[in-house]
Amino acid sequence: MEPREFFIEDRLERFRLKAFCNLGESGLGFFRLEEVLRMANVSVSELSDIPMNDAPNQGSLELRKAIANLYPGVSPNQVLVTTGTGEALYLAFHLMVKPKTKVALIWPAFQALYEIPKMLGATIIQVPHEVAFQSSTWKEIDADLYILNHPHNPTGKTFPDSEWESLLGWFREKKKQVLFDEHYRFLPGVGFMGRTGVDTNHSFYGTGSFTKCFGVTGLRVGWLIAEESFIARARSFKDYLTHTVSPISEKIALGLLENKESFLPDIQSRVRNNIAKFTSLWKELPQTKDFTVPKGGLVGWLKLESGISSEVYADRLFEKTGVFVLPGSNFEVEGFLRIGFGETEERMAEGLKRWKECTDLI
Ligand SMILES: Cc1ncc(COP(=O)(O)O)c(C=O)c1O
Repeated sequence: MEPREFFIEDRLERFRLKAFCNLGESGLGFFRLEEVLRMANVSVSELSDIPMNDAPNQGSLELRKAIANLYPGVSPNQVLVTTGTGEALYLAFHLMVKPKTKVALIWPAFQALYEIPKMLGATIIQVPHEVAFQSSTWKEIDADLYILNHPHNPTGKTFPDSEWESLLGWFREKKKQVLFDEHYRFLPGVGFMGRTGVDTNHSFYGTGSFTKCFGVTGLRVGWLIAEESFIARARSFKDYLTHTVSPISEKIALGLLENKESFLPDIQSRVRNNIAKFTSLWKELPQTKDFTVPKGGLVGWLKLESGISSEVYADRLFEKTGVFVLPGSNFEVEGFLRIGFGETEERMAEGLKRWKECTDLI
């Protein structure tokens, strides 16, 4: 059993550190350790004092408490700290998916959300994003597992309130199993925290993290939320993989969660300003056709004029301007670009100016 190549990774590896303006990543531009320690209110002497033993297998109680507090009715025993959301997904899928399990998810999607189930023998039901944010669409789909990634990568879409309530009500009534991937929950379109669909009493499990929203992807911390017996199985599986998360990462993660009120509003205004800026001028970018304003998260989906290869467009844009975007082909859909909004506002403005002036792209 082996998953196919992870299509976005090669390009990300090649360009993310070289780009003048990085609109290719789905995370906020990274902070340096010194800045992160300030955000987390951790001093260098506290850092030096961390005992370098294994952290508890399930994650430290303090960190699990801070994570549980992000969800209504969730206890620390229902939290497993993982190495990134990627590991949480990997564990959850291994416990939930068997050959022929029908897995429905919004399409296009972050590849791990369907590639791992596919590797395990699942039948994948693609739900096009154009209709996926209406509850009536899901009510027509008979699946064993529903994966809802909201705010959605790569479109930035999320559910209107009435559709959300109606959909959750239907999942509850039909006793469906749902996995919510809420990686971008700290960046709702408005307000401080986005909604969660997690409800462990109804087999509505969740994966999450703050690393992309807070600009600290290098911390590699994520989590899985589920009822206790499921968490116990996932923890046992994790013992064979990464076993524990570094105590350094755990300490900083706890500080960031406890102090998020002090730094998150600035991050949110930066991302919202970048989205507003892009929305106001995307029509001036060469050969672009359509753009739906993201309702949350850090990314959006820009449609190109027909017949243009997204890969050729992204390559030429990078060569001519230093602006890095991801081609839709990396999401197995042609004719789109994924745009990230985590750059600094200054570089975003300069990058868009260069892009706009680049009339000989194709
Ligand atoms: C929707 C979604 N889920 C999960 C992940 C994996 O994140 P992590 O870096 O925490 O493993 C990503 C990363 O881009 C993502 O976009």
